[in-house]
Amino acid sequence: MVKRIGVLTGGGDCPGLNPALRAVVKTAIVKYGYEVIGFKDGYRGLVENNFVKLELDDVSGLLDRGGTILGTSNKDNPFKYRTEIDGNIEYKDMSKRVLENLDMFGIDCMVFIGGDGTLTSARDFMRMGVKGVGVPKTIDNDLSATDSTFGFMTAVYTATEAIDKLHSTAESHHRVMILEVMGRYAGWIALESGISGGADVVLIPEIPYDINKVAQKVMERKNRGKSFSIIVVAEGAKSVQGDVVISKVIKDSPDPIRLGGVGNRIAEEIEKLTGIESRVTVLGHLQRGGAPVPYDRILSTRFGVHAVELINQERFGMMVSLKGNSISEVPVEEAVGTLKTVDPNGELVTIAKSLGVGFGD
Ligand code: F6P
Repeated sequence: MVKRIGVLTGGGDCPGLNPALRAVVKTAIVKYGYEVIGFKDGYRGLVENNFVKLELDDVSGLLDRGGTILGTSNKDNPFKYRTEIDGNIEYKDMSKRVLENLDMFGIDCMVFIGGDGTLTSARDFMRMGVKGVGVPKTIDNDLSATDSTFGFMTAVYTATEAIDKLHSTAESHHRVMILEVMGRYAGWIALESGISGGADVVLIPEIPYDINKVAQKVMERKNRGKSFSIIVVAEGAKSVQGDVVISKVIKDSPDPIRLGGVGNRIAEEIEKLTGIESRVTVLGHLQRGGAPVPYDRILSTRFGVHAVELINQERFGMMVSLKGNSISEVPVEEAVGTLKTVDPNGELVTIAKSLGVGFGD
């Protein structure tokens, strides 16, 4: 019988984490009478015993709050945990310590809320016997086992608003305005915000771009009287000859590469090729912050409630998932490791191309 559940949020923060926590805690306490323990800062809290008991009051007023009240980390992998001994950095497997802590606190089941990295560690703990369920999150929308993740729509909304605003300067100054958005391996934010904001060119990791074709699109517009263009570029976009642009390497992160700078590269090249003044805006972490849009509040609430229902049915080892309009679940084993990327021949790219949007291909 489950009596006490633990919960953590891991990976990059994302709009909808707080509503998901609210849904988990409320359903657990109100419907099933479980106790809920929240571990702080992702897996770090599980390794270092940093936790808090979550009561109904703790999750009150969270629907419109960005971030996560538990804190998070995209650096702490419990299977390769950074420790400092006498000034030397070492990486240790702390998974046994986590099992001991779970045992010590009488945690019957864990709710792991996170993206691919967090859920991969969750899978590994489940293989070691931990009872748990997964809840997917990421603004990138690149998890293959769910049709959508919360956070994504808010990021698309933020990027769309940015495109709307960039139109003013583009039009008034007759410039090329470039918006660089997140998306390391998948171009969903660039593609969907590009469509909803009316971008003229969308560059995504899945379609390597030829800068001459991008310049050609800008010139085509100029020649038919449109003296400005808007280009949306995903941070992971690469040219046909080149590679991604790396902004920094975070050594102690399980996924150490941080991208950034492709927008500047494109601006320079477009200005050279077309003679039109070009400017860049990097949206960065603005995409991850702020109040979740209603869609994300509802999706994260549905996910959180369903996670607790799975626990009540003792269906451990599953990740909640959206399939069509229904919430269901998939084995965590099948949910991690494969990214959902944009299909270059899929419907969204095709409709964008029908409207004349360029992809640099
Ligand atoms: O995976 C989410 C994400 O926001 C990516 O889109 C981005 O590349 C990365 O995280 C940025 O990470 P950090 O918060 O470490 O800068």
